[in-house]
Amino acid sequence: MSKLPNVGATIFSTMSKLAYEHNAINLSQGFPNFPVDERLTTILEKSTKQNIHQYAPMAGNPILMQHIATLIASSYSRNISLEDELLITAGATQAIFTTIVALIHPGEEVIILDPSYDCYEPAVLVAGGIPIRIPLTTDFLPDWDRIETAVSSKTKMIITNNPHNPSGRVWSESDMLALENITEKHQQLIVLSDEVYEYITFEKEQISVHSRKKLIEKSIVVSSFGKTFHITGWKTGYLVAPKNLMDEIKKVHQFNVFSVNSVAQYCLSKYIPRVDVTSLGSFYQDKRDFFRNRLVNSNFKLLPCEGTYFQLVDYSGISNKNDVDFCIELTTETGVAAIPVSVFNADKREQKVIRFCFAKDDETLIKATERLCRI
Ligand SMILES: Cc1ncc(COP(=O)(O)O)c(C=O)c1O
Repeated sequence: MSKLPNVGATIFSTMSKLAYEHNAINLSQGFPNFPVDERLTTILEKSTKQNIHQYAPMAGNPILMQHIATLIASSYSRNISLEDELLITAGATQAIFTTIVALIHPGEEVIILDPSYDCYEPAVLVAGGIPIRIPLTTDFLPDWDRIETAVSSKTKMIITNNPHNPSGRVWSESDMLALENITEKHQQLIVLSDEVYEYITFEKEQISVHSRKKLIEKSIVVSSFGKTFHITGWKTGYLVAPKNLMDEIKKVHQFNVFSVNSVAQYCLSKYIPRVDVTSLGSFYQDKRDFFRNRLVNSNFKLLPCEGTYFQLVDYSGISNKNDVDFCIELTTETGVAAIPVSVFNADKREQKVIRFCFAKDDETLIKATERLCRI
């Protein structure tokens, strides 16, 4: 019997395939299409003859780990123990999977807030846990009363994602306080905080779990170099967790991947000291504004975008179709691929809202918005 009977090809593969078949502009999957920073590609070129091709240490390249610790200290004023609290992973996906498999026992409940990124629930199911999917509000913010009601003595973990994919919303101080309250009331509860878009915020800054004293002792915080350095294909990231949780996570990690790609780690260890992550927000803010301005006079309604490189739009002024059918039509007839938001909901509830990725060069965004303004 399948452990994941309802899992097929992801919506990202499906829409990207459809986009390819119909020669549509692909604003569906979340990856940049512009060149990677030349400083990084030069490091990569120069690194090939170095002695860096054998297994890296299990927890990660020590120099890279040191630079990550410095980055966390400068971004969030948090000092972590390199030995006990940091693990380099094969992207955020592996960090999330390994954490869940290591910490969730059969029958334990895990709260997932919908619409949710698609790798959370399968990991919970493989671990034998029970996913409890709680809808966000219609504005895509946490409904703390509903979350509070769902938490019981069986609830082991809540997975949070801030800044949020697919909505682009960023949590406020009141949300962080509510999260702290719930974890204080329910001492068994741990937080898996997916912060892969931590440096991609605009007018409103992200409040990281790293900066919350009440949360760090019971939280795993996940980051992705793919998102921060425009290198999704490198599949590298890291997680930070307190020692008692990290000890368990490492036990699984060492038999899951053992250690992460040594060449990627070496290059990142040379690159991080030369790059300023604080400029990432304004880089993507320009793209967001460019994309939004070109859609202002379209028949799409633009929803708030506070972070990430995703823009939600309401298409109810254009079509009555459900969001999956609308995305298929948009790809095959208008020539622009997007992601229907309902696929991120357990109940497939739909709000006539779809997601575009604006991590694209200007030429792509111009062509796509020209097409989108015609309907
Ligand atoms: C919210 C969220 N979490 C995790 C990931 C996975 O990140 P990685 O490519 O580093 O595995 C993504 C990628 O799109 C994401 O959007």
